[in-house]
Amino acid sequence: MKSCFFHHLFLLTAVIFLRFLTLTTAAMCHPDDETGLLAFKSAITKDPSDILSTWNKSTNCCSWEGVNCPNNNRVAVLTIRIESNDAGLFLSGTISPSLSKLQHLEGIVFINLKNITGPFPSFLFRLPHIKYVYLENLRLSGPLPANIGALNRLDTLTVKGNQFSGSIPSSISKLTRLNYLNLGGNLLTGTIPLGIANLKLMSNLNLEGNRLSGTIPDIFKSMSKLRILTLSRNRLSGKLPPSFASLAPVLAFLELGQNNLSGSIPSYLSRFMALDTLDLSKNRFSGSVPKSLAKLTKIANINLSHNLLTDPFPVLDVKNDLLSLDLSYNKFHMETIPEWVTSASLLSSLKLAKCGIKMSLDDWKTRQTDLYDSIDLSDNDISGSPVRFLKEERQLREFRMSGNKLRFDLGKLSFSKTLETLDLSRNLVFGKVPARVAGLKILNLSQNHLCGKLPATKFPKSAFAINDCLCGSPLGHCKG
Ligand SMILES: *[C@@H]1O[C@H](CO)[C@@H](O)[C@H](O)[C@H]1NC(C)=O
Ligand SMILES: *[C@@H]1O[C@H](CO)[C@@H](O)[C@H](O)[C@H]1NC(C)=O
Ligand SMILES: *[C@@H]1O[C@H](CO)[C@@H](O)[C@H](O)[C@H]1NC(C)=O
Ligand SMILES: *[C@@H]1O[C@H](CO)[C@@H](O)[C@H](O)[C@H]1NC(C)=O
Ligand SMILES: *[C@@H]1O[C@H](CO)[C@@H](O)[C@H](O)[C@H]1NC(C)=O
Repeated sequence: MKSCFFHHLFLLTAVIFLRFLTLTTAAMCHPDDETGLLAFKSAITKDPSDILSTWNKSTNCCSWEGVNCPNNNRVAVLTIRIESNDAGLFLSGTISPSLSKLQHLEGIVFINLKNITGPFPSFLFRLPHIKYVYLENLRLSGPLPANIGALNRLDTLTVKGNQFSGSIPSSISKLTRLNYLNLGGNLLTGTIPLGIANLKLMSNLNLEGNRLSGTIPDIFKSMSKLRILTLSRNRLSGKLPPSFASLAPVLAFLELGQNNLSGSIPSYLSRFMALDTLDLSKNRFSGSVPKSLAKLTKIANINLSHNLLTDPFPVLDVKNDLLSLDLSYNKFHMETIPEWVTSASLLSSLKLAKCGIKMSLDDWKTRQTDLYDSIDLSDNDISGSPVRFLKEERQLREFRMSGNKLRFDLGKLSFSKTLETLDLSRNLVFGKVPARVAGLKILNLSQNHLCGKLPATKFPKSAFAINDCLCGSPLGHCKG
């Protein structure tokens, strides 16, 4: 009886133990995968964050940090990423071509490794199952391979934040399964290849921060799934191509800032009903903004700053959706901050520098909420005092009012602890500089009518220059 009981207990324990084993052990590593991964590790010369410390021969490679064998004993995904806020942590070395031994690899994700050098990794061409490639913020360089089109199983290719140079290979047109392509933050030159028009599944195309030139080619007719288009910070010129209009139903993010684009803002933009973000800043767009843009009631971010746009700016109906608006440095004469702007209840970043505003800040009937994060109304003709506004806005980080006619006693100014930047240069501000400005990150009080001894701060001379009678460090000694 007793022995039977123990016999059962033994069996039960054995069964539970075996279960436990199969549940907790990852699939056993394939020798090819292990060899490939260890060769990768040995080409890494510095690993200050010890990200590869679990990679050693005495353990199963499927259990190593970043190694994933989801289906069988073969490595399918390799993920090595350093959080971007770990600023000092760099993985140094090169990417070993032996990674081609990982014949079942479907995805490779290397992010923020920062000091991995070498050319575009050619072992990718020897991986028959590779579907997604993230090589972001490494230090790879040289040209993108001319035969990049051979990676035609890819749905995602991002090499942003490297130092790739030369032109975008025309064979990119063969990557017809791509839905995300990011070549941003490299040194690419030449024009955007026409063949991109073949990438009909593309939903996110990012070529920002390169040196691409020429016009934006007429490639959009077939790109019916494009939601995000980012071509900012290049040297693109000319007008938006006609096929741009066909992006209307789905495009949500359009970022073309810091190029040399020209022509007028097309009125068909009013049909881009999914548009969330429109950034055309720092270009040469001219003419007036089409009135029909008032139909974009869901738009959250508008940046048309630094163009040549003229009056009148349309009245937008964006009460509950607008988060940021920047119309600075165009040719507007707005006279006042428009009512539709003031009443946008969630607006947190408002920049209307040099918009020809001629009001008193005392007349600005702001909303009841205190959601402003940044305000820039520099280079207008604004008078009155910001004392009430700064007292009420409890979340403000940035307040720029340079080059206006503000006239108030600076000694009476109080502001939220969140404030980091205060620029009141070139106004008519009088009184003394209060000690509480010392806690700011950026301060400019130059060219006003301030007087008296400066409190101790870290700001340079130019932050206080050209006032009536300021004294004390960093300016000269106070007399008497
Ligand atoms: C290998 O890794 C295991 C577990 O992480 C560790 O206990 C062992 O000391 C390591 N061996 C070597 C040679 O680094
Ligand atoms: C980057 O790598 C090079 C050579 O591989 C090395 O000399 C340099 O110290 C590394 N830089 C950092 C910040 O780790
Ligand atoms: C920008 O385009 C204009 C023509 O629209 C041209 O005159 C100018 O040289 C271009 N600027 C740059 C920096 O390419
Ligand atoms: C608008 O774009 C300019 C330049 O491209 C940038 O400096 C500015 O911060 C942007 N404005 C907002 C509100 O993001
Ligand atoms: C302060 O503003 C003046 C004029 O707007 C400018 O010349 C000066 O460089 C600025 N100083 C600082 C510290 O920002």
